[in-house]
Amino acid sequence: MFDSFNRNINYLRISVTDRCNLRCVYCMPECGVPIMSHDKILTFEEIIEIVRFGITHGITKVRITGGEPLVRKGIVQLVTQITAIEGINDIGMTTNGILLGQFAQDLAAAGLKRVNISLDTIDPDCFHEITRLGNIEDVFRGIEAARAAGLFPIKINCVVKQHSRETDAAGVRDFCGKNGLQVRFIKEMNLETGQFSLVEGGDGGHCATCNRIRLTANGDLKPCLFTDLSYNVREMGVEKAYLAAIANKPSCGSINQSNQFSNIGG
Ligand code: 5AD
Ligand code: SF4
Repeated sequence: MFDSFNRNINYLRISVTDRCNLRCVYCMPECGVPIMSHDKILTFEEIIEIVRFGITHGITKVRITGGEPLVRKGIVQLVTQITAIEGINDIGMTTNGILLGQFAQDLAAAGLKRVNISLDTIDPDCFHEITRLGNIEDVFRGIEAARAAGLFPIKINCVVKQHSRETDAAGVRDFCGKNGLQVRFIKEMNLETGQFSLVEGGDGGHCATCNRIRLTANGDLKPCLFTDLSYNVREMGVEKAYLAAIANKPSCGSINQSNQFSNIGG
């Protein structure tokens, strides 16, 4: 479906939870975010209804994000339900990889095509410092499990402070080169101040051709990462919320003081 700036909105990003098993310094406070109560979180039935509506309005591509999507109970069943709907030709997931060792095979069997895995350093101590909770060996195991399961391509998301020549980023680039992984460098952003940057190696972030719409775990349809506009599917109903999100998609992002990365999924 085309928005008012003639952009074809065919890409739906779904945040399935605001919870995470890590506490990356640039994403969450150490104590975590105040978590949403369970009854605020969309059920699978609601998510499926939105995906179906999206598909009849031009969505062909879906990405599952979080928080960390793999901590959502029943995530494999959700992927199964989404891939069973006709009309999606690309479905991927963005994950921190910690639980991929456990889930990769089942996700692939459920029809997931590919994964983006967050990895900002290959040094175990730095990894623990950045994520506050993580063991990097789990991510390495997760990457191998994804490969073994045939999830392809595997893309690594690497958040950098300023540029991809930083020490940690150089290590990640080297690691990816040696292991047949694609790498994308994401400069640390700040939603609240509107500090946005393009993803080096990514395809988003060009406002003039932006094809995305986002769904938060509590049912807010957001036309842009950098906007306070949101249309809640429970309050408005799916059709009204969806059409309003597309009709009001801004020509360009500005600021977002209502969301964090942890509930809008990057
Ligand atoms: N700036 C840039 N990227 C971020 N992510 C989380 N917080 C930020 C931030 N402040 C990224 C994660 C992950 C993706 C979902 O979003 O590293 O790769
Ligand atoms: Fe979790 Fe990803 Fe945020 Fe890190 S960046 S705390 S892995 S949601």
